[in-house]
Amino acid sequence: MIKIAPSVLAADFCRLGAEAAEVKAAGADYLHVDVMDGLLVPNISIGIPVVESLRRATDMFLDVHLMITEPVRYAERFCKAGADLVNLHVESDTQENTLRAIEIIRACGKRAGVTLKPKTPAEAVLPFLDRVDLILVMTVEPGFGGQHFMAAQLPKIREIRRLIEMNNPACELEVDGGIDRDTAPQCAEAGANVLVAGSAVFGKPDRAAAIRAIRENCLKN
Ligand code: DX5
Ligand code: ZN
Repeated sequence: MIKIAPSVLAADFCRLGAEAAEVKAAGADYLHVDVMDGLLVPNISIGIPVVESLRRATDMFLDVHLMITEPVRYAERFCKAGADLVNLHVESDTQENTLRAIEIIRACGKRAGVTLKPKTPAEAVLPFLDRVDLILVMTVEPGFGGQHFMAAQLPKIREIRRLIEMNNPACELEVDGGIDRDTAPQCAEAGANVLVAGSAVFGKPDRAAAIRAIRENCLKN
């Protein structure tokens, strides 16, 4: 079953609570929250206080995507702020510190995920695969919404699905960047089961229709 995770990066930040309620009613499964520090990626977005506010505003599953350097410094604070799942980039620190961050997240009773930028190979997940609940494959260079889907990531998605089946079949496989009604089916076919969609959901006036179109197209293929 495909899960849809609208990314709040494309939402109206002045009315985040209402935006969350709208996509929840529209059938979204997770709410994807993009945190950027201007160092790991060339943009700055939102942080801990916004996750706290969202936590008070909605009971949706908060999938927090940390695009920050040395996320081990903040892992516990994002958990306490109300994240249900914290995603860390494997490029953001040493293997040792990433493992430590995963331990911290799990000790907080939350789910942990690792994220790969487009240039990072599938094998980079191996040191973490048996300790995480989700792997996120970026299908654009992280930092901005509204970019074009990189079809060249499809073989990597397929390869990570194979590694997941071999090592940790309960682990989810998420894709993020340029996902819409046309690219979603390709990702689902390659083995992704959680689809992040910013512009393709929050960018549309009818969010329910947008989510339905993504789901229906995934079922068709
Ligand atoms: C990009 C972010 C994405 C972004 C996706 O760095 O991680 O979550 O919001 O936006 P779309 O779906 O518009 O490509
Ligand atoms: Zn994201």
